[in-house]
Parts: sequence; structure tokens; C-alpha cells
Amino acid sequence: MFNIFKPKVKTAIPTFAPLEVDIHSHILPGVDDGSKSNEESIVCMQVMHDAGFKNIICTPHYQYPRFPNEESDILNRYDNLKLDIMSIKPTNIPQFKGVAGEYRVDSGFSQRIEQNKFLLVGNRFLLIEFSLHQQVMGLEQIMFDIQMKNHEIILAHPERYPYYSSSAPKLQQFKDMGVYFQVNILSLIGFYGDGPRRKAFEMIEKGWVEFLGTDMHNTLYAQALIDASHDRKIIKLMEKHKFLNSQITNPQAQSKSF
Ligand SMILES: [Fe+2]
Repeated sequence: MFNIFKPKVKTAIPTFAPLEVDIHSHILPGVDDGSKSNEESIVCMQVMHDAGFKNIICTPHYQYPRFPNEESDILNRYDNLKLDIMSIKPTNIPQFKGVAGEYRVDSGFSQRIEQNKFLLVGNRFLLIEFSLHQQVMGLEQIMFDIQMKNHEIILAHPERYPYYSSSAPKLQQFKDMGVYFQVNILSLIGFYGDGPRRKAFEMIEKGWVEFLGTDMHNTLYAQALIDASHDRKIIKLMEKHKFLNSQITNPQAQSKSF
């Protein structure tokens, strides 16, 4: 009913089944630059299901002033989305496993840390991102301040920041501080260009990457996820590397056992 793709177009294969959980998506409609409607979210979720995901965590942008989301509003919208989807009863979609956020380290971020007002991935991890254009100064102190609030940090798509190479001392510093890295699956097929594609593979090869995520926004991303699921190099990579996605909502993962 919601399949917008022509019948002859290929569907996803479950290449990403070992991950089980997608920890990064923008399928909560109408709150950021992601999905625009429940219908679009369902189409994306069906592709994610076919690609092997059992569970999805919604991570809308928190970015001032572009997406000035408030946690209470996001929680309400998340509950409404779940109710709406239950009433539509679509087949073959992953289950929601919580709502969190992708927090941009911007001018309002220090205040957020002070207020400690975050929605966490798996009730434990703070998913953060940086500007794609300009390097933020003082990041070590910011990371330290987050850790002082007892949150563990996942840095979203380190391969996408043009000012960091795959061997950037700054990234090494973050790894030394215990920051987890999450690479976007779509980076691996060059969705964001050749630089991020190359860096994504290099970072995974050097053992820096604990998580993969779809960063699903809309049906364009869903189509690219179908392509990624068929990509031989990615299929090989999924056979060779172990990621920690499947442990993210496991109560045992609440111990510091990673
Ligand atoms: Fe994102």
C-alpha cells in the first residue's frame, strides 16, 4: 500500500541483520529535515526491515536555531507516531526501541550539558554531531563535561567531517577518551561523496567504529539503503566486522562491559 517503488525495482536484502538495531534515524515526522509524514516513515521502515533491522531508535536533530526541538515535545510526537502506526498496522516493519536525539555541538550545547537535558540512545549513550562546515574549538572539554554527567558518547558519522582525515589526531584523542564512533551505512556506497566513503572504510579497518547507522531521512535514503544492502564490498565487511548495535538495548549493555 505504501510502496512507492515500482514493482520491478529491487528490494533490500537482509545484509544488516547482524546489527539488529538501527541507532540513528530521522523517521519521526515533521521535527527536522527527515521524514515528512507517517506514510514516508513507514516506507523507510519497511526498507529497513528488509535490510535486516529488527529495531529502530528515532534520533531527531537538536540543533539551534534550525531545529529547536524540546525533549517533551519529541516524546509526545514519538508516542503519537507509535499510536498512528499501530492503527495503520503496516506489515514488515521494525519495532521502535526508543526515542533519543542527535545533538549538534553548537552555541547552545554547553547550556544543555549544564541542564543535563538529553534523550539518550539505549538510556545510556549521547549521540552527538558536529557542524559539517566548521570545526568547533574546545571539544575535549565538552566531551569531558558530558562524561562528567555519566553519559557515554557516540560521535555520529566521523567520516563526514571534511576537516578530519581518517587518521586525524583529534579523532585519535576522542578514541583515547572512550568516545564511540558511528559510521553511516550510506557513506560506504559514496552517498555523501568519495571522501566520506574512503574514510568510512579506513576507520572501520583500523577498529575505530563500534556502530553503524542508517541516518535514515526519507525515501531517497531508503533507496540508497537498498543499494547498500546489495553492495558486495559491504556484504563482505558485514561478514568480517562485528559491531555493537545489537547490544544497545540489551539490559546487560547497561553495565560498562563494552
Ligand atoms: Fe543524523
